[in-house]
Amino acid sequence: MRDEITIEAHAKVNLTLEILGIRPDGYHDLRSIVMPVSLSDTITLTRTPAVFSLTLTTDRGISAVQIGPVEKNLAMRAARLMKDRYGVRAGVRIHIRKRIPVGGGMGGGSSDAAGVIRGLNELWGLRRPDEELAALGAELGSDIPALVLGGTVLMEGRGERVHRLALDGPVRGFDLVIANPGIHCSTAEIFSRWKSGLTTPPKMVQNMAFSIRASDVKRAASLLHNDLEAAAFEGYPAIARLSETLRRVGCLGVLLSGSGASVFGLVRDRAQGEEICRRLEADGIWNVLAHTCPMV
Ligand code: C5P
Repeated sequence: MRDEITIEAHAKVNLTLEILGIRPDGYHDLRSIVMPVSLSDTITLTRTPAVFSLTLTTDRGISAVQIGPVEKNLAMRAARLMKDRYGVRAGVRIHIRKRIPVGGGMGGGSSDAAGVIRGLNELWGLRRPDEELAALGAELGSDIPALVLGGTVLMEGRGERVHRLALDGPVRGFDLVIANPGIHCSTAEIFSRWKSGLTTPPKMVQNMAFSIRASDVKRAASLLHNDLEAAAFEGYPAIARLSETLRRVGCLGVLLSGSGASVFGLVRDRAQGEEICRRLEADGIWNVLAHTCPMV
């Protein structure tokens, strides 16, 4: 058994996100293709005899204040849940180097929790299967099961039903520019602003899955869809403006990431992405050039 493990906890984008209705428990029924991206937090887990602790260092543009108190942190809660569920005596020291914007709709907190669940499974020698760990993650947050599973995932229900999309071998993935308007969006608020009524194009999942397999970025860009976008634009005009900016500077397709506030744009290639990032930088807009990681 190892005493220390380092994990890259990848951010995610939802290339499609359909809302199918509201459930009796107040959550929304979703269908979404989730893909990890190269932007990641780095988590180090160190075995301790019994103590639990969490420390964080943050990269530019991420304020420690936004992250909130340690005891409420999803990574810490994931560690306690693992300990209680599996009756583990040992403790863990968690250190997270944060690069994923907080409240940005990129699954930052959820990804940290997913990384802690996977990492502790190894550090504590628990050998629990992925499906069980994903179900455990669902107890903490709707995005966590998809991130525990990793890779390109079709997420359904509240987020608890997940399976990997069959990609039939390695695919190239897409280059994308992620930008953040410097505001924090509450997931609950954006969901509550959502209004039903708009019909979604047919065969969305099948068509997007085909574009991913074919690494056809133009087709994927034309298929990007997020039912929460209208609600986010209405509540936060700065997001709508940022989305417009990404289109104007040449992204092939632009979409709200999850429930916002980040927006991402698919680009032709890395060179175009670098050029777009330079222009956003010049306007003082937080941005990062990333690549989807279909297989992570
Ligand atoms: O599951 P999680 O705690 O991440 O969800 C945060 C909030 O987002 C929920 O309290 C709920 O208001 C909303 N939500 C939803 N339907 C989902 C996922 C989240 O309504 N499928």
